[in-house]
Amino acid sequence: MKRSVFFVSIVSVLAAAAATGSIGAVTVRTQKAADTYQSQCAKCHGHDGKGIESLPGMPNFTDASWQAKHTDKELSDSISGGKGIMPPYKDKLSGGEITALVKYVRAFAGGAKGKKK
Ligand code: HEC
Repeated sequence: MKRSVFFVSIVSVLAAAAATGSIGAVTVRTQKAADTYQSQCAKCHGHDGKGIESLPGMPNFTDASWQAKHTDKELSDSISGGKGIMPPYKDKLSGGEITALVKYVRAFAGGAKGKKK
């Protein structure tokens, strides 16, 4: 399992590097959340938001019913204070960044068209 975590981390670093190439004035905030997600969160939550299955309690962000069960406040509290094996981010990210990440996490379910599962 360690190998796959390592592989995903490498991919996330590459994706973040590629993403920084195209920053438009209007999309800066979304782009920044995307960069933060890909560099800090994707190693556990995956680029597609489905998460690494072997991690305990791992939510699937593309699952609309999971999204429906959680409020924005729950999500931001968990990102800020940590949950389970997820570390707290309140010292690393600003409140605005955490709010942008909640929106980004929400977008995984909206972006998943059709029934893949
Ligand atoms: C070390 C792996 C790891 C990293 C890094 C990580 N998470 Fe998590 N995250 C988890 C796990 C595991 C859970 C499930 C925790 C539980 O329910 O016990 C979780 C849960 C969540 C949840 C759901 C919280 C809830 O209330 O149910 C959100 C939202 C989330 N993470 C967002 C993020 C964001 C955004 C980042 C990056 C800033 C991030 N995570 C980084 C492992 C990680």
